[in-house]
Amino acid sequence: MCGIYGIVGDKAVEKTLQGIKKLEYRGYDSAGISFFNYEFKLSTDIPKYLKNISCFKNGLNIIREEGDISKLEKIINSLKPKSKLAIGHTRWATHGKPSIANSHPHHSENGDWVVVHNGIIENYIELKQELKGLKFYSETDSEIVAKMLSYNFDGDVLNTIKNVCSRLNGSYALAILYAKNPNKIYVAKSNSPCVVGYSKDIGIVCSDISSIEKIENLYVLPNQTIAEVSAGNINFFDYNLNKIELSKFSGFTIDSSEELGKYSHFMLKEINEIPTAIEKTVVDYNTIEKIRKSLPKKVIKNTKEILIIGCGTAYHAGLMGKRLLEEVCGIKTDVDIASEFRYKNYVPHKNTLAIFVSQSGETADTIKAVKLCKAYGLTTVAITNVKNSSICFEVDYCLYTNAGKEVAVASTKAYNCQVAMFYLMAAYFKAVSIDQDNLIFEEAKQLVDVAKQIKSNKINNICMDIAREIKDSKSLYMIGRTVDYYLSLEASLKLKEISYIHSEAYPAGELKHGTISLIDNDTFVFAFLTQKHLKDKTINNAVEVASRGGKVILFTNQKIENTNFYKIVNLPKLSEFYMPLLLVTYTQLIAYYTSVYLGNNPDKPRSLAKSVTVE
Ligand code: AGP
Ligand code: GLU
Repeated sequence: MCGIYGIVGDKAVEKTLQGIKKLEYRGYDSAGISFFNYEFKLSTDIPKYLKNISCFKNGLNIIREEGDISKLEKIINSLKPKSKLAIGHTRWATHGKPSIANSHPHHSENGDWVVVHNGIIENYIELKQELKGLKFYSETDSEIVAKMLSYNFDGDVLNTIKNVCSRLNGSYALAILYAKNPNKIYVAKSNSPCVVGYSKDIGIVCSDISSIEKIENLYVLPNQTIAEVSAGNINFFDYNLNKIELSKFSGFTIDSSEELGKYSHFMLKEINEIPTAIEKTVVDYNTIEKIRKSLPKKVIKNTKEILIIGCGTAYHAGLMGKRLLEEVCGIKTDVDIASEFRYKNYVPHKNTLAIFVSQSGETADTIKAVKLCKAYGLTTVAITNVKNSSICFEVDYCLYTNAGKEVAVASTKAYNCQVAMFYLMAAYFKAVSIDQDNLIFEEAKQLVDVAKQIKSNKINNICMDIAREIKDSKSLYMIGRTVDYYLSLEASLKLKEISYIHSEAYPAGELKHGTISLIDNDTFVFAFLTQKHLKDKTINNAVEVASRGGKVILFTNQKIENTNFYKIVNLPKLSEFYMPLLLVTYTQLIAYYTSVYLGNNPDKPRSLAKSVTVE
């Protein structure tokens, strides 16, 4: 997955660079830019960047660099190329390691065609075999597009693009330059998001609405569309090359850029923003009138079963949702991982409400699952943090968490807000079933109180101490039962994604069925216990671990006599119903400090991206 940005108009290189910077959440293992400039050629600075730069006689140039965009920016700042047209790409490698050669843009042999791609061309190996004799410079699936455009060129640019696209399987948003048309960017899209826009002196291509600069005419491209973008005009075509009209998109919101302020990393800042984020989310839906505007009462009344779908942290929030909807409302709720759901034989029940959780609203697996559920005839709802993200265009109803922009790759405040939304949703179902609208307001008040408790709970030192102790671990386990198990899944994911320490979450009672054989004197085990009725059972499981030498760190709100544990973290007084919402912040901070002590960048962990826009 990646970010694509392109500009036709003044200061194209500078603006494209700024554009791909905003898209870095989609990938940051390498970046590149292509632009027209006939004078650029071999300026005195170029030799030192020889491996980064390709200059073609036709005026097209490509600059690429491995690593995040700041490295590409350094080269561009030192060479200062000028152009009225540019396309750029920030990559998250799917095919071929992060390297200069594999970075986009890719080009045809003579440099007449230059392409950036978001997605996966699934049949690229088969297509490569048709282009015998052609030299490929990268290991990517994307390069095939540039080569095919040149190989199949029939003198008509649009027709050639259409013919090539109709041979591609998989997903793509493509921005294409053709050397003889130096005032146009061609765009083709199928199953990867892409928006385009223009006003008087400018034309823009971008991977998503929230990252595009404000523009008078903005369009969300449907699948199988080709766009011919110029400054001041865009033509749209279907795959038969019929000219089509698209409706202008009007719900423009500008994504505010975020500053670090006094914090060393965005992740720490975002953990500290959790209380405010929960309050803001709750305030948006704290009465029956407000919530039913986004999700009508009739949908709630018709619902007999619920299916929740998400990936990673969003999936874990869904598990919390299951607990709440089943416990509070007695509605059967299934939760599934989007990429798994898609390949299962799901038997849809009538009146099932499908809820999709996605911070970014761009996750390809989740969006595909939405499409599948719609095909099954289910009513669909998204819980997302990004207004007008791709998922909003797919679902029937959208609920927005108001966490504010989440920059760090590891999701923290968005998770807390997703869980808060499930508390509200459970209250909504209950309110509708017993016809007591005020339940929503009461639930909202409770959540605001919980947010205040999180704010006043000063836990930095405890979390730093634990991080220092666990940082040299090779492997670590986290256990709990039911809701505490759901919490341990999220805690474990957070730790591994930014500290790179292997960690596994287990239902506390399941450890003895195999995994306990891995516990030795060096193994830390976090045990979570927040529910009174689980006290004896979870403690027994933790004792079993301690008896085998495991260093148990118990996080609990219960009074515990056993002193065999390595450490007990006493949680503050709070109704156990809300405890997971508070406890998760300990685990987020522990993950953060562990990552920092190990010298990692918690905001940009290796191999990951903020939003996973490929399947
Ligand atoms: C969370 O820390 C991860 N970076 C990841 O699991 C993430 O939650 C997942 O990719 C889903 O993203 P989404 O919420 O934007 O759909
Ligand atoms: N599949 C392409 C690659 O690996 C594009 C990946 C992306 O969308 O960033 O280069």
